[in-house]
Amino acid sequence: MKNPSDEKKIGTENPVPITAKEEGLSVQEKFEPDISGGLNELFEDQLKQIYWAENELTKTLQQMISKATSLELHSALSEHLEITRQQIIRLDELFSKLKMKAEGEKCEALAGLILEREKTINRIEEGDLCDAGIIAAARKLEHYEMASYSILISFAKALKLKDSLRLLNKSLQEEKECDEELSNLSLEINIEATSSS
Ligand SMILES: [Fe+2]
Repeated sequence: MKNPSDEKKIGTENPVPITAKEEGLSVQEKFEPDISGGLNELFEDQLKQIYWAENELTKTLQQMISKATSLELHSALSEHLEITRQQIIRLDELFSKLKMKAEGEKCEALAGLILEREKTINRIEEGDLCDAGIIAAARKLEHYEMASYSILISFAKALKLKDSLRLLNKSLQEEKECDEELSNLSLEINIEATSSS
């Protein structure tokens, strides 16, 4: 008599894993975006949010540039606008490497920072005080980006996404340099702003 326990149980076997080598990918860039839950999903969410953020920031930076009076601030923001456009291209590349569709996901935290910037800067006349407000707002936005890239880097390390790490590290370094430049600029502009108030 056939023992029921000898029968093959359909659907209980683990599927044969497809190795990264078979797919022609480097082991480091093996990523499965369709898997829900786990670190993959968190990484994907963060990636979409920074993509949305960088795209929004191109508009925000243009508005800040149009209100900046200091030539140094105007130049620093214009340079960062160009860098931001490059960072978007870099994220496009990253999505492509991971075989994911490049799409953004609105981040309410960043939307709040952008709204706060508008409220602060729009009520101040252009000049030293407004420039000080622009730097304050821009640095908050920079720190959001720095935190986002740092988080993505820690996830990419855990997921062994070597190429992604390289791209993310480059963007993080640029954000840090921009924040440092704005911080240095604020030393002079904040003092000038004291005579505007
Ligand atoms: Fe950026």
